[in-house]
Amino acid sequence: MSTPTPAPGAVGAPRPRIEGPLKVTGTARYAADVPVPDLAHGWLVTASVSRGRIRDIDATTALALPGVLGVLDHRNAPRLNPAAGNYFGPDGSLQLLQDDVVPYAGRPVALVVAETSEQARAAAAALRLSYHVEPHDLDFRLEHPAARPGSTAFGPEADTGDLDAELAASTVVVEERYRTPEESHTALEPHAATVWWHEGDLYAVDSNQGAFSVSEVLAALWSMDRERVHVRSEHVGGGFGGKGACGPQVILGSMASARYGRPVRIVLTRAQVFEATASRPPTDQLVRIGADADGRLRAIHHRPAYALSPLAEYIEWCTEQAKILYAAPAIRTQLTAVPLDILPPASMRGPGATPGSFALESAVDEVAERLGLDPLELRLRNQPTVGPVSGLPFSSRRLVSCLREGARRFGWAARDRRPRSRREGPLLVGTGLATTSFSAGVFPSTASITAEADGTFTVAVGASDIGTGARTALTAVAADALGVGPEQVRIRIGDSDLGMAWGAGGSRGTTSWSFAIVEAAGKLREKLDGPDRPVTATADTTALIDYRPQRERQTFSAVFAEVTVDPATGEVRVRRLLGMFAVGRVINPLLARGQLVGGMIMGLSMALHEESVRDPRTGRQANADLAGYHIASHADVPEIEADFVPDYEPQDPSGFNGLGEIGTAGTAAAIANAVWHATGTRQRTLPIRLDRVLEPDDTTVDDPHVA
Ligand code: MOS
Repeated sequence: MSTPTPAPGAVGAPRPRIEGPLKVTGTARYAADVPVPDLAHGWLVTASVSRGRIRDIDATTALALPGVLGVLDHRNAPRLNPAAGNYFGPDGSLQLLQDDVVPYAGRPVALVVAETSEQARAAAAALRLSYHVEPHDLDFRLEHPAARPGSTAFGPEADTGDLDAELAASTVVVEERYRTPEESHTALEPHAATVWWHEGDLYAVDSNQGAFSVSEVLAALWSMDRERVHVRSEHVGGGFGGKGACGPQVILGSMASARYGRPVRIVLTRAQVFEATASRPPTDQLVRIGADADGRLRAIHHRPAYALSPLAEYIEWCTEQAKILYAAPAIRTQLTAVPLDILPPASMRGPGATPGSFALESAVDEVAERLGLDPLELRLRNQPTVGPVSGLPFSSRRLVSCLREGARRFGWAARDRRPRSRREGPLLVGTGLATTSFSAGVFPSTASITAEADGTFTVAVGASDIGTGARTALTAVAADALGVGPEQVRIRIGDSDLGMAWGAGGSRGTTSWSFAIVEAAGKLREKLDGPDRPVTATADTTALIDYRPQRERQTFSAVFAEVTVDPATGEVRVRRLLGMFAVGRVINPLLARGQLVGGMIMGLSMALHEESVRDPRTGRQANADLAGYHIASHADVPEIEADFVPDYEPQDPSGFNGLGEIGTAGTAAAIANAVWHATGTRQRTLPIRLDRVLEPDDTTVDDPHVA
C-alpha cells in the first residue's frame, strides 16, 4: 500500500458535484438519450401469470401494424449461453426468451421491435398470449416447508456459547417475530439501454451500476471475448441495487439488435421496472434476546427468512448486525431462504442490514422496555471490545461516540422513558433510537492516470456515478494523490473500456476506485521527473487486497427519531431525524451528507410507506406504479440532520470507508421504537400503516399462519 500523501486539501472540502450543471440544464445524456442513427425501438411484453408455460403467442395482428420489424419470443430469439451467471453461479434470470417456462409474473416473454417506440407499444398491446397456468406459491413465511438454510457465501453463521443455557439463565427473554415486505428500488430513471453491434463487437449505452460487470455478463451470455463488449453508463439516474445486475433492457436489446441488424433502444415503463427488474425480498424474522436484570445481554438468536426465486441464488444478509453490535456469551444466527414463484430479488440499499437491523434493534428496544432501562444505556452497557463472534479487533469502532454525540444533539437526556408520556393536543409524541453497523471494505479495481502536456491530469477508472457524486469525490482523491488542485484533474468514468473495476455497490465503490487511483498516482509521480508527456501510469489493486480477515472493518451509526401519532387516524409523522455516523475519513462532506440524508429518507420511507402488494390470486404486483407504491415525498420528510464523528479507517490507504448504505439501515428501527414510545404498542411489521396503528395486534392482522 502507498503511504498517504500529505493532503493539500481537496479531500475534506465540500465541493458541489462536477456534473451538476449538465444535469440541471438537461445536457447530461442518459441511456435513452444518446443519438444513434437508424435506431429501432423495442417494447417488452411481460408474463401476466406467476407460474406456468406459454401455450401460444399469436403475433399475426401485431406484425401487420405499421412500423413493426418483428416479434422476438422463445421460438425465434437468439440462443444465449446457459452457463452465464452472477457471483453465485448460473443465473436463470438472465436467460430471457430461451424457453416457454414462466417462472414469475412480470417475466419478459416477448419483445416487439418497431420503427418508433409508439409503434412497438401498439404492437405489443396487439400480441395475443395464452398460458398453461400452474398453481403458484407466494406463501412466504419462516415455517414454509421449502425453507432451507441461506447460502453462507458471505460468511459462516454464528453459533457461539450455549444459547439455550443462556436464555434459561436470563431474567428477561424477548422472543418476537418481525416482518418486512417486498420493496422496490424505484430509481427515478427507468432501466433503459441503447444497443448495437458493429463488426462483431457489441456496444451498449445502458443504465446500470457497473459497466464493467455488465460487459462481463453480456460477454458470457454471447460466449464472446469481454474486450469485444463495450458498455457505457456515463450518467445513471439512481440504482439503489436495482441496476446492479445485467438488466433485461440490455440483454433483450442485444438480442433484438443481433436479430434485426439495427441499433435497438429499450426503455422500461414504470410498471415494468416494478415487475421485471428486481426487488428487495420480504423477510420474516425470529429474534430471541436474553438479558440479566442489569441489562447485560446473555443471548442473541436471530433467525430471519427471506424469499428468493429458484432461478438464482441470493443472500439477504439480515444476520450480520447480530454478530457485530453487541457482546453476548451466546450468539446464534440462522439465515433461511424460502424459494417461491417471485421476481428474483436483488440487493436493495443496505441489503440484509436494513431489514435485519429493523428486527434486531426493535428487539433490543423491547429488552430495554421489559427491564425498565433507558435504551441508550442498555446499548452502552453491551458494547463489545472485539468482534463478538469473530474475536477480531475492530479496525475502528466509533459507535459510542455516535450514540453520545447524537444523544447530546437530540436532547435524549430529557426523555421520559415511559410510553404514552408525551402529548401535544390530540397527538401522541415519542422518541426512539437505533444503532447499526455496515460492512466496509474494498474490491479489485484498475485505474490509469495520464500526465498531459499542458500540465493537467486525466484519470480513467471504470467507476459508476449513479447520482452519488462519485465523479466529484474521485477527482478530489486523485488531486490529493497527485499533489495538485482538483481543477487540474479531469475524470473519465462509466465505460467498460476503461478497464476492470468494481461497480457502485456494497458501499465499496468509492473505496475500491480510490485505492486504484491512489496506487496509479503513486506510480505516475515516479515518472513525472522524466521528460515524457503525455505519460500514463496504470494500477491494478487485485494483488494488493488481502481478504484474510484480521480486523472487523465496519461503519457505524446511531439514528434518533421523533414521531407524532394521531390516535384517531393512525397517522405517523416523523418530526425529527438525526443520524450520527462513523464512516472513516470523509471525502466530501456536502456529498456524503447528501448520501446519508438520502439513505435516511429511504429508511423513513421503508418504516412508513413502502410495500409491494401482490394479488394472491394472480401473484402479480397490485401496486406496480408510483401512485400505489408510495415512496416518501417532500411532505413526508422533516428536517433531517446527518453528521459525522471523527473517524479514520486504518485498513484503507486513505482512511476511507463507504457510506452509501448505512443511512438506510437503522432508520426504520429508530422510527418504530419512537412509535412504541408514543403509543405503547410495538409495530413489528413494516410499513407502519394506518391500519396497523389502529389495529395494533400485528400477528393477527396479516398473517393467517400465526392464529
Ligand atoms: Mo447496492 S444495494 O450495494 O447496489
